[in-house]
Amino acid sequence: MLYRFLARFLVLVLVFVVSTTLPAQAANIDPYISRYLHITEAIALDMDEQGNTRLFSPQELSAGKKLFESNCINCHVGGSTLPDPQVSLSLNRLQGANPRRDRINSLVAFMRQPTTYDGSQETYWCRQVPSSLLSSQQAESLAAFILTAAQKATGWGAENF
Ligand code: HEC
Repeated sequence: MLYRFLARFLVLVLVFVVSTTLPAQAANIDPYISRYLHITEAIALDMDEQGNTRLFSPQELSAGKKLFESNCINCHVGGSTLPDPQVSLSLNRLQGANPRRDRINSLVAFMRQPTTYDGSQETYWCRQVPSSLLSSQQAESLAAFILTAAQKATGWGAENF
């Protein structure tokens, strides 16, 4: 009886010690962000063509990944574009679009009103994201996730995956 009680008590103490000594900032960081994209501290991303940047924490990128999974992944799994493989989310493709979509602001602008690759007209193939669905902050986190995945994840948006 006493032995069992002591054993349980020890396990509880161990769990407590381990959980409090794990690095506090590991909370809410998706392993894809920290281990695969190797982002463990805030990174600066370009907001616009003028060179303005803003810092995005690993937590914010993790939140962006969640938003991507719940809103975009059906058509854009792994950065591809299933209904139109030519227009993937790879860095090359984003850079080649008109206007370029490899900056946070232009990505957010695209989400608010998706256009064709050459920018000549609106497209209804992609999902439009009004501010009633995602706030500016959320849209920026989502854009930041797409951009860092495009910059760092091997095979992201590859046309033949
Ligand atoms: C129903 C399928 C579908 C969903 C859901 C979807 N997209 Fe798209 N997306 C497309 C298609 C198709 C295109 C190409 C559109 C075109 O060129 O006319 C596209 C294009 C894009 C592009 C431009 C890529 C480039 O190389 O220029 C971006 C950026 C993008 N989508 C982001 C998103 C985001 C962010 C979400 C989630 C909020 C999302 N998409 C949800 C189908 C989808």
